[in-house]
Amino acid sequence: MLGDKKVVFSGVQPSGNLTIGNYLGAIKNFGAFSEEYKCFYCVVDLHAITVRQVPADLRRRTYETLALYIACGLDPEKNTLFVQSHVPAHAELSWLLNCYTMFGELSRMTQFKDKSAKHADNINAGLFTYPVLMAADILLYQTDLVPVGVDQKQHLELARDIAGRFNQAYSPTFVVPEGYIAPTGMKIMSLANPESKMSKSDVNQNAVVYILDPKDAILKKFKSAVTDSDTAVRYAPAEKPGVSNLMTIYRCFTGKDYDAIEKEFEGRGYGDFKLACGEACADALAPVQSEYARLMADKAYLEEVMKKGAEEANYCARKTLSKVKKKIGFVI
Ligand code: TYM
Repeated sequence: MLGDKKVVFSGVQPSGNLTIGNYLGAIKNFGAFSEEYKCFYCVVDLHAITVRQVPADLRRRTYETLALYIACGLDPEKNTLFVQSHVPAHAELSWLLNCYTMFGELSRMTQFKDKSAKHADNINAGLFTYPVLMAADILLYQTDLVPVGVDQKQHLELARDIAGRFNQAYSPTFVVPEGYIAPTGMKIMSLANPESKMSKSDVNQNAVVYILDPKDAILKKFKSAVTDSDTAVRYAPAEKPGVSNLMTIYRCFTGKDYDAIEKEFEGRGYGDFKLACGEACADALAPVQSEYARLMADKAYLEEVMKKGAEEANYCARKTLSKVKKKIGFVI
């Protein structure tokens, strides 16, 4: 709670080109909270360096991610949009919370296991303590609600545990946040391997549809999406993961439910269905893409948004940080 409003916080890493998984699972849902909640949406650049980044790419993607937030409908007048490294309290609270987080808890994080398998040559301490930084992000703003895709659920549970532990050790200090996982789009799967999550770091370009892909690339990717040897467009995730994933994507972009989609494509086969998915996706992304292009041509405006966002975020974050330091017993 901040003042009389409940608080929403979420973040996206500027670690690659954003996908329709990021869009449907997270960013598209952010705008709905702006009227009722005090909303903080962060470009989490500190998180991104747990994996090696090319400096120029990281810098460019930080602007790009901010521009995409705005292009996806987040009005900087109604939402605090900011860059994580512009608010030093994130790194500082993260250190403090490290001392209230157990080695065993971090060892159980599935994302740590996955990422250390993927980056065996760089299993750094930041990769291990990443969920503590995420807890700091959330807890600094006394966040009530965290809209995320289902892959972040375990990290969110840990943030809740850390908050509860700290509150118990001292006295109520942090709001214990709830996750908000959108009913549709909670986990968009790879188009090439529907058993695994669509991820911006996937090396197979056909597996991933990027928010900024041109229409012809989108159509091509959907055309080559893995389905099955059947021909019926039917929602059955266990039996038909590829088709079911496409149906979820189609549903998210058109608002039609699964029954309506099954009826629409009855007797028509996969070719028609894949084309319709591609068209729906490209049509929905077109306005986002043109707004994005306009914003990227105006860096001064993006810098203004970053600066204003950092001021607002710093103000709230400092308040929580000094409360935490007092409780721990630091001389402040
Ligand atoms: P990141 O950058 O990997 O992803 C950003 C958001 O997109 C969601 N997402 C998906 N949703 C559905 N289907 C997919 N295939 C898919 N891929 C990604 C993610 O769940 C996420 O909501 N650790 C976070 C960033 C973070 C954060 C935070 C989030 C840092 N601090 C505090 C919330 C609150 C991450 O790596 O997200």
